[in-house]
Amino acid sequence: MPLLFDNVRQLVTAAGPARARRGRELQDLEVLTDAALVVQDGRIAAVGPREAICAAHPGADVVDCGGRVLMPGLVDSHTHSIFGQPRHEEQELRAAGVGYMEIARRGGGIHSSVRDLRARSEDQLYALALPRVRRLMAHGTTTLEVKSGYGLTLEDELKSLRVIRRLQDALPVRLVPTFLGAHEIPLEYRTAPRSREEYIALLVEEMLPRVSAERLADFADVFCEPGVYSADEARTILGAARTYGLQLKLHADELETAGAAELAAELGATSADHLAAVSEHGVKALAGAGTVATLLPGTMLFLGRPQQAPARALIEAGAAVALASDFNPGTSPTVNFPLVLTLAVSQLRMSVAEVILAATVNGAAAVGLAAETGQLSPGFAADLALFDIEDVRELPYWYGDHRCHATWARGKPAFQATRAIA
Ligand code: NIG
Ligand code: FE
Repeated sequence: MPLLFDNVRQLVTAAGPARARRGRELQDLEVLTDAALVVQDGRIAAVGPREAICAAHPGADVVDCGGRVLMPGLVDSHTHSIFGQPRHEEQELRAAGVGYMEIARRGGGIHSSVRDLRARSEDQLYALALPRVRRLMAHGTTTLEVKSGYGLTLEDELKSLRVIRRLQDALPVRLVPTFLGAHEIPLEYRTAPRSREEYIALLVEEMLPRVSAERLADFADVFCEPGVYSADEARTILGAARTYGLQLKLHADELETAGAAELAAELGATSADHLAAVSEHGVKALAGAGTVATLLPGTMLFLGRPQQAPARALIEAGAAVALASDFNPGTSPTVNFPLVLTLAVSQLRMSVAEVILAATVNGAAAVGLAAETGQLSPGFAADLALFDIEDVRELPYWYGDHRCHATWARGKPAFQATRAIA
């Protein structure tokens, strides 16, 4: 039975080419009024003027959207959702002047999440991750990339990726698993007789083959940053990942410039993420490549750092910009993707059209799914979010609020607000 979404105030289709939008294309956000949408078999069957749509589907089940804004479900293309306990003590340390990398040098930061995750069973991690992912979903996300990266041993990375697989089996939203065994050099490989080279060999010779053989990840990612992995090391690891059939992502130029954006462009990575410290040369490289520049303004806000990624320069150079939450226990413990859109308008100086396309169509492109989700056009998956607002510009405006009324993933209800606040 088809489902007809009616009584929509604004129908934000984001319709257009099934690829990342770049440069000036990011200004063109299609918003329909007096429109309706039909879903059949989990796909969008029709979108258009409501009278014609209603007349053509007399037997459809009607979903009354209550005069709200219907838009593509959000695509959060960068999260680290598999972790144990929160790291609130680091927030106070940073406030007292101890920087993110200094905390890592003292054995905290990612290392502290690694110690914690290694001590937990797969069942425990699953029980922790499930409500966290549900919270992400409750803010409008219907496609979610999820990284491993707090295990850093073969077994602990496989354990994390299996948790993602179990989450996918339990949840209606689409999860995109990424192997991030190169999130850090584990502490035990920093002193003789072991070495960082040995850990990189383990990544390349044992972990990547197993992850690929068990089909546990679609992407591989590396934290390429001075003091973590160098550009040359990242090239080695991602080069190997590609031979195992994985698509590529890169944590690039997050805190300091390291030529990582250039590397992502050179390798034809699907996305280069963070970019708060990208150089002008890196901006040009991304503008000239198919790589999506994924910006994570919540991270810099939470770290209390003044610099943000140069979104305007990237867009004006012709790059494809996406936005994501970077949900993780160290640098961005927010589940509120619309809040990230607020930051993108106020801190990155992006327009509303740009932030909506960056969180839908371009988010989908950043996980290789631009032909599947991110826009409300016939043939695309029926991934929908209904927000309790009358104008799409209210989405980044009511900052920090919860406005998501309901979502559908592949035509199936994924989230429903239990009560309206009125
Ligand atoms: O995207 N930069 C590396 N990874 C995460 C932070 C991880 C952590 O601190 O736990 C990020 O910011
Ligand atoms: Fe990250």
